[in-house]
Amino acid sequence: MPRILMCPPDHYGIEYEINPWMNRSLGAVRQLAFQQWSTLRDTLSGLGATIELLEPQHGLPDLVFTANAGLIFGNLFLSSAFRHEVRAKESPVFDAWFDSHGFTVEHLPDGMFHEGAGDALFCGDILFAGYRQRSDANAHQWVGQRFGSRVLPLELVNPRFYHLDTCFCPLSPTEAIYFPDAFDQYGRRVLETHVPNLIPVVEDEAHRFGCNAVVVGKTVVHNSRCPTLAESLMSRGYRSIEVELDEFLKAGGSAKCLTLRLDGEEAAGWKNSIIAG
Ligand code: ARG
Repeated sequence: MPRILMCPPDHYGIEYEINPWMNRSLGAVRQLAFQQWSTLRDTLSGLGATIELLEPQHGLPDLVFTANAGLIFGNLFLSSAFRHEVRAKESPVFDAWFDSHGFTVEHLPDGMFHEGAGDALFCGDILFAGYRQRSDANAHQWVGQRFGSRVLPLELVNPRFYHLDTCFCPLSPTEAIYFPDAFDQYGRRVLETHVPNLIPVVEDEAHRFGCNAVVVGKTVVHNSRCPTLAESLMSRGYRSIEVELDEFLKAGGSAKCLTLRLDGEEAAGWKNSIIAG
């Protein structure tokens, strides 16, 4: 049974600018944000996921982006070390939640930045790791040693695609969608060599954060107006569901950022070996 952590957008807003999407003068419309977030929640629970809720906190407008809480590996919650002070204040809230919900909470050594499931995504047994904009390459290597996983670092070269989950989304242990221009030639080669079925997302739809999708079984939930993506998914046997999340695009987020899969992503090799074993 999929379990997903979300945080209602009661205190969501554009209160600072830490990525190129954010503009304080174009604030979010709270009621619309609430509607869009609720549709996402209902869609995911309609797919059979249990939605766990984190209590929203005044003064933490980006707490809705639970993907950045940390990285889940079985029962272990490796808490994020946020690059920006404004988001680092979220960590005690996330840590308290995980601690009281049966996870073992761990932290990275001081002086390394790592933004959790936003920048580190398993596709099979490999942990694909976005670095430069938010997370550090050495933090990813530390995580790889801690988990005993192979890490392949991918440099994020385009400031609009500042977290790996904005431009890469594993669908299964062998299949992923990605936006090629968010990576350099080396990164593209790493992806092509290690992910057997790689599905490119076109530029317009990448800018609508089509890659920032939530996968539940063979269903992919993503932002609206991504028709080419929807078609590619369907031709590969996936069901595509569009949920408009434009109020969250204003903060540089979409479906995936608003969720954290507590039982492990569909594509994570470790999850499938736990099930098999
Ligand atoms: N405003 C947030 C930030 O810049 C958005 C985070 C989006 N999360 C994600 N996993 N891509 O940190």
